[in-house]
Amino acid sequence: MSVSEHPISHNVVRWPGEKKIRSSALQLDQVALSENGFQIIRQYGTDVSRLECDLDRLSGGQLYYSNRMGVLCHQYSVLPESPNFSEQMLCGGFHSDFMFQPNPPAYIALLCLQQDPRHPLYGRNQVVHMRSFVERVQQAFGLSEQDLKEYRLVYDLAERGRFEQPILDDLDGKTIFRFHELLLGKKQMQWGSAEMSVVSMLHAVMMDITSDICLESGDLLLLSNHHVLHRRGECSIKFEGLTGEWHARKMASIRFNL
Ligand SMILES: [Fe+2]
Repeated sequence: MSVSEHPISHNVVRWPGEKKIRSSALQLDQVALSENGFQIIRQYGTDVSRLECDLDRLSGGQLYYSNRMGVLCHQYSVLPESPNFSEQMLCGGFHSDFMFQPNPPAYIALLCLQQDPRHPLYGRNQVVHMRSFVERVQQAFGLSEQDLKEYRLVYDLAERGRFEQPILDDLDGKTIFRFHELLLGKKQMQWGSAEMSVVSMLHAVMMDITSDICLESGDLLLLSNHHVLHRRGECSIKFEGLTGEWHARKMASIRFNL
């Protein structure tokens, strides 16, 4: 289904089969990154070193180094068993990367190294843009952007304990997302006279407005980490009898600033 065939009132859904243009040089589309919160580069290729060089050049050397991961480029695969969210078959939660850092990276590059064995139904990426999110929260629940900046969500973290953080925050005079659905505490404060829990309200809006993006091996997705939330759908796994290995979705991610 192409964008134009999709009902206007609904979100953009990007299935495989759309026209693909192989790009010889990586170029950032600032309009797409700002308007949609993401940019898709089809058939970029699976050369991770090339991606690191391209992004280092485009960002002027501002690749984001994570002490926790100890790398600039994080490669991960879905596994039969793992304590890490990114390696589990379960559906992920909507989040922004490094939300607890004072200065979360502005952009994320997600390179699909190997698509899910049940692609495109499984392993897709989902993206929620802040503009649509704020509009829908207002329409559905009568809550304003200012309400979203003031309501303090409660997080319960093993290493930090209880922590409160609104979903919208101010960073250098600009509004950014800070959110991680799977790290929210079980008990949240009542939000006004709402009959629904705040977690359900937020999730319903996110599922309503999310864009579904299906990546094939070699496709590159760039995200604005400050202006969108992202997650991935449920993944599958396939046992290869000849090699005795598990095959599953494999990705590489690099965060960067501009
Ligand atoms: Fe992420």
